[in-house]
Amino acid sequence: MSHKKIAVGSDHAGFGLKETIIKYLKDKGYQAQDFGTHSAESTDYPEYAEAVCRAVLSGESDMGVLICGTGLGISIAANRFRGIRAALCHDAFTAKMSRKHNNANIIAMGAGVIGTETAKDMLDVWLAAEFEGGRHERRINKIENMNID
Ligand code: RB5
Repeated sequence: MSHKKIAVGSDHAGFGLKETIIKYLKDKGYQAQDFGTHSAESTDYPEYAEAVCRAVLSGESDMGVLICGTGLGISIAANRFRGIRAALCHDAFTAKMSRKHNNANIIAMGAGVIGTETAKDMLDVWLAAEFEGGRHERRINKIENMNID
């Protein structure tokens, strides 16, 4: 049983997968926090990216899951937030490596790209994997210290 708080958000294209993921996480004992959207009505993915990123950055959530049709828009939006490392993953390998090497604090998925079982497998390995630090920490620090404004 984990007490980790996981912020989950999606646009309309990711709504169905978000509902499935929230139930899956709750069944596993995580505190899944639903940041919307709450229906399949068309909406804009940056809003959900922002809500989940703010929750992770403030400490309200430990980690985040973001879903749109491809995972592209919502991960692009999330990576605008300094301190957020949103990894768009497609399989268990990329999900695992995004924790071990990139210390991803958000996993992004495309509901039109992966199936439900793949999404569950990805979550399992992503939540279990640990950041390896060392040389990977040095590289992440270089990203965080980039002067891009
Ligand atoms: C919505 O139609 C779609 O553009 C969105 O879910 C996402 O795939 C954008 O990157």
